[in-house]
Amino acid sequence: MRVLAFYSFKGGVGKTSAAVNVAAEAARDGVPTLLWDMDPQAAASWILGHDDGLESGAGKLFKGKVPIGREVVPTGIEHLHLLPADRGYRHLDNLLQKRDAPADILAQLLRPLSEVYGLVVLDCPPSFSRLSGALFRVADLLAVPLLPSPLSLRVWHQLRQEFRDNNLPRKRLSPFLSMVDRRRTLHREWLATEPPPVRRQLSTWIPSASQVERMAVERGPVRAYAPRAAVTAAYRNLWLELDRRLSELPQRNPV
Ligand SMILES: Nc1ncnc2c1ncn2[C@@H]1O[C@H](COP(=O)(O)OP(=O)(O)O)[C@@H](O)[C@H]1O
Ligand SMILES: [Mg+2]
Repeated sequence: MRVLAFYSFKGGVGKTSAAVNVAAEAARDGVPTLLWDMDPQAAASWILGHDDGLESGAGKLFKGKVPIGREVVPTGIEHLHLLPADRGYRHLDNLLQKRDAPADILAQLLRPLSEVYGLVVLDCPPSFSRLSGALFRVADLLAVPLLPSPLSLRVWHQLRQEFRDNNLPRKRLSPFLSMVDRRRTLHREWLATEPPPVRRQLSTWIPSASQVERMAVERGPVRAYAPRAAVTAAYRNLWLELDRRLSELPQRNPV
């Protein structure tokens, strides 16, 4: 089982949209996939048709008092299951404070899922926190959406610095450009001037497209209602690229 986290400490950059669409593409390829919505705002859960929280609540889940599989719900998409968000995730950092190291708690939670799933996609909340520290250690790959702007690039450099400071392998970071709008001068300029070392790492671009905004209304991945849209093909390519990167990395054992 591979663990793919969509992460940035910035909000509104396209994490949830990418997590849902990439998870749906993996499921389309027949990979038994679980999307774990870790953001208390619950956008991914809503898009995948689920508007309640967890049955037993975040506290019981993180204390290991309920088997994680019991909280999983179907999504209406073949091979794709959802572990819904919960309001209790607002206090996740407290829950991760209790006993073992946060990364060990997360790894223990993920372990039983490997009997059922080939891929777990994590839709992360936008923060630097105990949870993100644990994710950096447990996820096989962190997919990081970046807007084509100088500020967004600072996010990238800070994240790389965080990895460097903590001796974490930077090859587990995979940036991609998100919400690219070539009609916007700033985006065009950025794409034209950004130095090659940065550009080389950003092979897949997700265009800015109204079909993505409609996900919250249609309540599904873009392929479900816009199968021929360019952005659907872009999410497909993103999945294929991340899948390739995942297969090149040594798998982490979430134990
Ligand atoms: N490629 C895109 N094109 C247009 N709108 C997008 C795109 N990606 C995301 N959005 C919109 O931007 C907002 C934030 O996206 P979201 O995926 O929720 O970001 P995050 O999870 O990083 O906060 C949402 O309203 C979403 O519909
Ligand atoms: Mg989100």
